[in-house]
Amino acid sequence: MMRSHYCGQLNESLDGQEITLCGWVHRRRDHGGVIFLDIRDREGLAQVVFDPDRAETFAVADRVRSEFVVCIRGKVRLRPAGAVNPNIASGAIEVLGYVLDVLNDAETPPFPLNEYSDVGEETRLRYRFIDLRRPEMAEKLKLRSRITASIRRYLDENGFLDVETPILGRPTPEGARDYLVPSRTHAGNFFALPQSPQLFKQLLMVAGFDRYYQIAKCFRDEDLRADRQPEFTQIDIETSFMDEEQIMVMMEGMIRHLFAQVLEVALPNPFPRMSYAEAIGRYGSDKPDLRIPLELVEVADLMTAVDFKVFSAPAADPKCRVTALRVPQGGEKLSRKDIDDYTKFVGIYGAKGLAYIKVNDLAQGREGLQSPILKFLPDEVVTALMQRTGAQNGDLIFFGADKAKVVTEALGALRIKVGHDLGLLEGQWRPLWVVDFPMFEFDDKENRWVSLHHPFTAPKEEHLDKLAHDPGNCLSRAYDMVLNGTELGGGSMRIYRKEVQQEVFHQLGIDQLEAEEKFGFLLDALKYGCPPHGGLAFGLDRLVMLMTGAKSIRDVMAFPKTQSAACMLTGAPSTVNPKQLVELGVRVAKPVKGEG
Ligand code: AMO
Ligand code: AMP
Repeated sequence: MMRSHYCGQLNESLDGQEITLCGWVHRRRDHGGVIFLDIRDREGLAQVVFDPDRAETFAVADRVRSEFVVCIRGKVRLRPAGAVNPNIASGAIEVLGYVLDVLNDAETPPFPLNEYSDVGEETRLRYRFIDLRRPEMAEKLKLRSRITASIRRYLDENGFLDVETPILGRPTPEGARDYLVPSRTHAGNFFALPQSPQLFKQLLMVAGFDRYYQIAKCFRDEDLRADRQPEFTQIDIETSFMDEEQIMVMMEGMIRHLFAQVLEVALPNPFPRMSYAEAIGRYGSDKPDLRIPLELVEVADLMTAVDFKVFSAPAADPKCRVTALRVPQGGEKLSRKDIDDYTKFVGIYGAKGLAYIKVNDLAQGREGLQSPILKFLPDEVVTALMQRTGAQNGDLIFFGADKAKVVTEALGALRIKVGHDLGLLEGQWRPLWVVDFPMFEFDDKENRWVSLHHPFTAPKEEHLDKLAHDPGNCLSRAYDMVLNGTELGGGSMRIYRKEVQQEVFHQLGIDQLEAEEKFGFLLDALKYGCPPHGGLAFGLDRLVMLMTGAKSIRDVMAFPKTQSAACMLTGAPSTVNPKQLVELGVRVAKPVKGEG
């Protein structure tokens, strides 16, 4: 017997037809001598009725239990009026069962599938093969498959070639720790798993492939969050002879096409663009969530002379920010305790406090305001503050004053939190490009410049002279696509001239010897006719997460790892046989307890 239809595909048009279903017993009910089996497969549920007239089949139906694997032959018939179930796709019909084959029985599952049960994620991941039977999980993976199919089609139609690149390689610097694999044939040496296919895709451009893509696994040993996994997937893209303008147009076209096809959502055309400086200034983030209407407002120039050190000192320091965040109607909606909680919240980002002014009645001047810092602010400063922030009666204005990075991160995060807490989100999908990134960021801990994107990103032509003399103000040709506060993807035009690449390495503190040793193959390739090229990579998992509305990246991956980067299902990572270690020339410094 073979399936003729998926359960979820049965409908009234099949009335009277004989069909074969294959699937799992979702639920079994006994109703006055008649047995109902709800059969489940990946497309949904169907109700099959067994009546005692067919004694043999009825006896089998009587014996089956939840999650048994069955094959059923039967006839579709309309359900009597009143028995229609609008909650399932096949709810207008049922199947009268003629033959019931049990293909396999099943033990009682560790958590029930035929009713909602609040099982912990550990159990779900341990029994992922059962968890994935739940329709809400299957839906997400099905949508993921439709997403990759749509993207592959778009890229194929635009002349992109799908080329695979190695998993065993040298470290690619994307800013995370590497996963290492010891080599047996070169004992003492290690491969690194790719943090991205970056250098190989650039080499493919040197090779003349012109337009490349790959749905590529990437590996990064970094601290995990709700939208990060140690092993994740990129839609990795590279092109030659296209500039950033053309690349951005083509790529937002791909995302627009995807949303139209899969979600029937029309994204804006074109996507708005915003400079990095503006994003940090107005939104306190390089991936602003434009659904939240709150904005940061600079007030340092008003605070230089106030009699409040907390504000006046940073106001005079160019490395600091003094910034306001107006919350419309926040004075009405936020309690004293809310403000205390937000003060604790910004503390996570290093903010030492969260000054505020409650705007009760603007007409009354200072009398109409309420704030622990009001006494430090002269009238003209108060007036200017109210004007600049656009304050209205009932508002609350928060203030941050500190090192620029602290204020940006603290108020940027507060903006998102307050926006969600007060339900201020506007619009469903707000994509944008962030452009004009700086080439470098100064790492205070390491006391050196680090790449904001990666070391192969080209500086803007008109900033080339700044590269050597004013690296802090040198802008790059990088661009990020942001959707609802998530960085969906990022890329750049690449350096294709050897001298520029060497200068960037130099600025990053990589001397010539180290550059030759680590990236000699790239510098070599730049010598042999490297075309101007650029590209980007999307985080597929994040894209699917947004499109499915999943709360965690783990919910859109079939077999994800836990927050501590382990696999609950297989028990990876695990210790290995000492003989294997000897072969690899590897000795474990701190053997795990219980190991010989
Ligand atoms: P980048 O490091 O910005 O760029 O990565 C591109 C996109 O990959 C996704 N991403 C992740 N998703 C899940 N878990 C992670 N740990 C994780 N890390 C990154 C993000 C991100 O925008 N080679 C460059 C691209 C290029 O220049 O072409 C690169 O890897 O959505
Ligand atoms: P204090 O003088 O420390 O009592 O602070 C007065 C107000 O300023 C309180 O509401 C603090 O939360 C706030 N505050 C203190 N430090 C900062 C800071 N760096 N940025 C913003 N507000 C602050």
